[in-house]
Amino acid sequence: MDILVMNGPNLGALGKRQPEIYGRQGMDDLPRLARKSIRDFDTRVRLHFFQGNGEGELIDRLEKAREEGTRGLVLNAGAYTHTSLALADCLAWIGVPYVEVHLSNVLARGKVRRESLIADSALGVVAGFGLMSYVLGLRALLTHLENT
Ligand code: DQA
Repeated sequence: MDILVMNGPNLGALGKRQPEIYGRQGMDDLPRLARKSIRDFDTRVRLHFFQGNGEGELIDRLEKAREEGTRGLVLNAGAYTHTSLALADCLAWIGVPYVEVHLSNVLARGKVRRESLIADSALGVVAGFGLMSYVLGLRALLTHLENT
């Protein structure tokens, strides 16, 4: 099955961007970490990775994922999590199950970041564990898909 790991704005700069908040590891480390972390699953998984800074770009990629039959998403929408009704609308109709992830603990970072417009349609949310949030989110997603 095909799974898409998708990152929103400013997440390409991971490692350089406010490392005290987001950690010192770069996004380049993620594919290896993610692939290694799912070796024990029975299902054969093809992982795809995408990062985009624009709202429209992310929506186009999500529509493509739907058309291609992508089975699930691990999604860090960055700041669009808190602001993008357009992204939330897209996620609500495409019907691709997803786990929302965040590097930082957004619940501990003030009122604006406590609100997620995209959580409504998510299977669940993992936040606060750096790149490990993606690994945990991915494992939760695959467990869900194997059991439904
Ligand atoms: C983030 C949290 C968001 O509030 C922020 O705008 C980001 C990164 C995280 O992964 O912790 O860009 O999604």
